[in-house]
Amino acid sequence: MDKKAAKNKIEEYKKLIEESDKLYYEQDKPLIQDSSYDHAFRELKKLEQQYPDLITPDSPTQRVGGKPLKEFKTVIHKKPLLSLDNAMNMEELEEFDQRVRKGLSKDKIEYVCELKMDGLAVSLIYKKGRLQIGSTRGDGRTGEDITQNLKTVRSIPHELKKSEDLEARGEVYLPYDDFVKLNQQRDDAGEARFANPRNAAAGSLRQLDPKVTATRPLDIFLYYGETGKKLKTHLEVLEHLKGLGLKINPQIKLCHGLEDVKKYVKHWETVREKLPYEIDGIVVKVNDLSDQEKLGTTARAPRWAIAFKYPPMQATTIIEDIQVQVGRTGAITPVAHLKPVHLAGVTVKRATLHNEDEIKRKGIKVGDHVVVQRAGEVIPEVVKVVKDKRSGKEKDFHMPKKCPVCHEELFRPEGEAVTRCINAACPAQVIGRLIHYCSREAMDIEHVGPAVVEQLVENKLIKNVADLYDLTTQDLEELERFAAKSAQNVIDSISGSKDRPHDRLLYALGIRMVGRTVAATIAQHYDSLEELFDVKADDLTKIEGIGPKVAASVERFFAEKGNQRLIERLKKAGVKVKTAKAKGPQPLKGKTFVFTGGMEKMTRPEAEELVRNLGGHPSSTVSKKTDYVVAGTDPGSKYEKAKKLGVQCLTEAQFLSLIKR
Ligand code: IVH
Repeated sequence: MDKKAAKNKIEEYKKLIEESDKLYYEQDKPLIQDSSYDHAFRELKKLEQQYPDLITPDSPTQRVGGKPLKEFKTVIHKKPLLSLDNAMNMEELEEFDQRVRKGLSKDKIEYVCELKMDGLAVSLIYKKGRLQIGSTRGDGRTGEDITQNLKTVRSIPHELKKSEDLEARGEVYLPYDDFVKLNQQRDDAGEARFANPRNAAAGSLRQLDPKVTATRPLDIFLYYGETGKKLKTHLEVLEHLKGLGLKINPQIKLCHGLEDVKKYVKHWETVREKLPYEIDGIVVKVNDLSDQEKLGTTARAPRWAIAFKYPPMQATTIIEDIQVQVGRTGAITPVAHLKPVHLAGVTVKRATLHNEDEIKRKGIKVGDHVVVQRAGEVIPEVVKVVKDKRSGKEKDFHMPKKCPVCHEELFRPEGEAVTRCINAACPAQVIGRLIHYCSREAMDIEHVGPAVVEQLVENKLIKNVADLYDLTTQDLEELERFAAKSAQNVIDSISGSKDRPHDRLLYALGIRMVGRTVAATIAQHYDSLEELFDVKADDLTKIEGIGPKVAASVERFFAEKGNQRLIERLKKAGVKVKTAKAKGPQPLKGKTFVFTGGMEKMTRPEAEELVRNLGGHPSSTVSKKTDYVVAGTDPGSKYEKAKKLGVQCLTEAQFLSLIKR
């Protein structure tokens, strides 16, 4: 279909869907059958995918909420979930205060100010203290029954602290950090990114499969309650909800009169980006419940509340150039170099374009006028192109074929959105790879944490993981903050990593998609890393638990000559690249041991080796997952921590008797 025909078709589908939605809500009877509705929706989506620049913000595919998916049951809200009137500036806020004062014939009003969470409104109905129904707001009168999904939100109690009947309403949201992580996962899977945390929260809650919702770390703040109790103020209601175990936002504040409210509004406008979640304004509510009743509501919104809306952290500027950056994991990110623009207090010069697909989807070209947005501490991103401002001179962007840092060939795995540099020796990836290599889960090099890695790389002492083993105490003593003792600790802990089992080394190399479990599985079938140099994906997929994507990634990594050289150097340095199959009984299988303090009968590395040979796992940090802490003479903070966490502590003698020595 050509673009013109597609445009007409898109309009046709949009109209059909919108009319159907309207009738569905207003008269509860569908205009067309569900199957035709779904067909129209799918066709519309397909066309929009084909011609992304024909997507409009009002398209039903872009709307959050909308028609309940046919598989969700409909819930009729007992009392409608109202919307809020907006105040866009201080004058409109003053007008609201005047209306309230006039309506109540009072001089000064007590208000409660709350953050306006940007998420998805939900209602929770509890009967005798048990969560019965959880639903979306929908159109305010009818919503979708998403009880099973809401039950996966960890901060929503299935049971209240008291057996009460109650309806609580609030906003489900996804914190920024989790939003960023979720989009990274979607990149890896070649799926479209969520545009913002709100869409991600809504998309996660409206999953037909609650198992999917459960993997998304959603959270909730409740801001309204019908309790059936004789409470006098909104604040008392919130306190009551809190007492029952429901989560209330900690920033809520009681304000005496308009001036207090204005202070709160101004304060959060400047610090809102420091919050770990997105807010789009402040909600101001009359505190006294009988006053609320006096003021009443319109069909749309209460007269006793208003939303002060903050301007979006967005601005328009021009993309002067697009260049690619190599991340610590080799991910290639196209970055827009912008004509500097002021945005929420800072000058923005660069914005991420995420990946090739996103550039295509948004139709971005060099020279385009674009809308950029900052959200929290997240790096600015390009939201969309202002197509009206095109001159025709804009240029398409093409992903480079070679890594801009190491000049090796770039690679985009099938089904993924991210292009990568897979050369482990690429300087751009060095720090990230080194940190991973030294981490507890990997080679467990206790004294080489992220700060030390950065210091070593900056001082040009190491470029890759093999260089670690060439370090000397003299090298380190010349560095800032290093004394003889700390230098020796670093060298000892690096040396101690040489005999980690080879599955740990396999994991530590930081091969894409090779986590601890995959590494352990592969290591069970290949005794030595050198055997993997010419491994073929087809052979790997024969192993239970190794899929084609993982297999391809492993084949690619070991086929790289640079990576083979790295492993050979590690071997020369004395790092074990092979582990003989475990012989004898494995009585410590799955158990984690931490040693602290001095031992009499053996050295610590010897004790650790013993644990390893008996199937256990020695570690250097104490956590709840630690099974035993063996405390020798003068045990330090690890012993204290173990006691605090209730981890079982053994003396050296008890340890030896445990392993029957
Ligand atoms: S009060 C009758 N309080 O904003 C009370 N709403 O624009 C109506 N929202 O649909 C809601 N944070 O999803 C209220 N602290 C807060 C809120 C809040 C976010 C959302 C809510 C509502 C929308 C109205």
